Amino acid sequence: MNSPDKRITLAWTGASGAPYGLRLLECLLAADYHVYLLISSAARVVLATEHGLKLPAGPDAAKAALVTHLGCDPDSLEVCGKEDWFSPVASGSAAPKQMVVCPCSAGTLASVAHGLSDNLLERAADVVLKERGQLLMVVRETPFSTLHLENMLKLSQMGATIMPAAPGFYHQPETIEDLVDFMVARILDHLGVEQGLVPRWGYDQRK
Ligand SMILES: Cc1cc2nc3c(=O)[nH]c(=O)nc-3n(C[C@H](O)[C@H](O)[C@H](O)COP(=O)(O)O)c2cc1C
Repeated sequence: MNSPDKRITLAWTGASGAPYGLRLLECLLAADYHVYLLISSAARVVLATEHGLKLPAGPDAAKAALVTHLGCDPDSLEVCGKEDWFSPVASGSAAPKQMVVCPCSAGTLASVAHGLSDNLLERAADVVLKERGQLLMVVRETPFSTLHLENMLKLSQMGATIMPAAPGFYHQPETIEDLVDFMVARILDHLGVEQGLVPRWGYDQRK
């Protein structure tokens, strides 16, 4: 098993914002994290639509495609199948203590808020909650319905952090990548991963 503090679970779901998920994966790997990656079926559709990246169906083939796309170390990335119940992320005895759902759809938000655990992604989030680990939900929808808001409140009360994919503009973004990096920087800050993606307020803003 890798060092516990250098393992993390990342889930991509079918909300708009695939570039956030990809960039976050890239940064976690660059920071020497071992990443367990969970990808919902809808996330694959969004990834192809928004980024033109068509991942093959099986976890091993999807991993190979991502390793090629990112040029990363294959040993640092594990893509888990949605019913791979023997994955470490399925059990509190082995799961990383940190998990990020980015982007997070309203559907997965609801499933996690109600503990459905109907696939490995939902189970992994349930495990992090029960083990009192750190769960970040990067929710993307607009507007929010009352149900979305109730589900976010429920998860927040259980200790999860709700981080709406809502980039700021005070760092004077010039490109879409700047906006993506704004969100990813805030996520990395919450995870305690050192990053210098975006100037910090009051220290090194651009003039
Ligand atoms: C291109 C595309 C964009 C979508 N954007 C969103 C979104 O921003 N937020 C959301 O909650 N659902 C969005 N959806 C719908 C979800 O993908 C859908 O509800 C799906 O069932 C979610 O499943 P999952 O949570 O298992 O990924 C989008 C779907 C597609 C194909």
